[in-house]
Amino acid sequence: MVAIAFYSITGQTKKFVVKTGLKAHEITDDFPQHEMKEKYVLITPSYQDFMMDSLVDFLNYKDNKKNLIGLIGCGNRNFNDLFAQTAKKLSVTLKVPILYLLEFSGTSTDVKNVRNIMEKLSGGKDTQKVEKPKELRGKISFLSDYR
Ligand SMILES: Cc1cc2nc3c(=O)[nH]c(=O)nc-3n(C[C@H](O)[C@H](O)[C@H](O)COP(=O)(O)O)c2cc1C
Repeated sequence: MVAIAFYSITGQTKKFVVKTGLKAHEITDDFPQHEMKEKYVLITPSYQDFMMDSLVDFLNYKDNKKNLIGLIGCGNRNFNDLFAQTAKKLSVTLKVPILYLLEFSGTSTDVKNVRNIMEKLSGGKDTQKVEKPKELRGKISFLSDYR
C-alpha cells in the first residue's frame, strides 16, 4: 500500500481528497508532527513558503522525508510560472517526482487520474513509470519557474 498525506489551508485540497474517496492523513497546523510509517504521496496546495511552516514541520519529522515517494501539486494556473510552486520546490529540494498537477479541488478527470496513479503505485509500479504531467515532462525550467 502507498499512503497519502495532504495539507490544505482554505479547504480545496481537502475537497479534492474527499472526492477521490482515498484514505489520507491530513497534516494540521495544531499537530503537524505525524509520522508516516510507510511510503506515501503528498498532495499539497501552493502558497508562498512562509505559509507552509506546518508542511515543513511535517516533512522534517522522523522519516517523513525518506518515506515520501511522489508529489501531487494543487494550485491555480493564473499564477503562471508560480503555478504549483510548492510541489515544484519540494520536487527539486527533496528529489521526489511530481506525479500530477491540478487546480483547486480538481475535476472529475483529475479524480480519475489520481485514483489511477495511486492504484498503480500501490500495485508496485515505480514512480518513474507513472505518467507525469505533460507540462512538466522533460522541460522544467526552474529559473523561469522561480524568477
Ligand atoms: C495567498 C495565496 C497565494 C497563492 N499562491 C499560489 C501560488 O503561488 N501558486 C499556485 O499555483 N496557486 C497559488 N494559490 C492558489 C492555491 O494554491 C489554490 O487555490 C489551492 O487550491 C488552495 O488549496 P487549499 O484550499 O487546500 O489551501 C494561492 C492562493 C492564495 C490565497
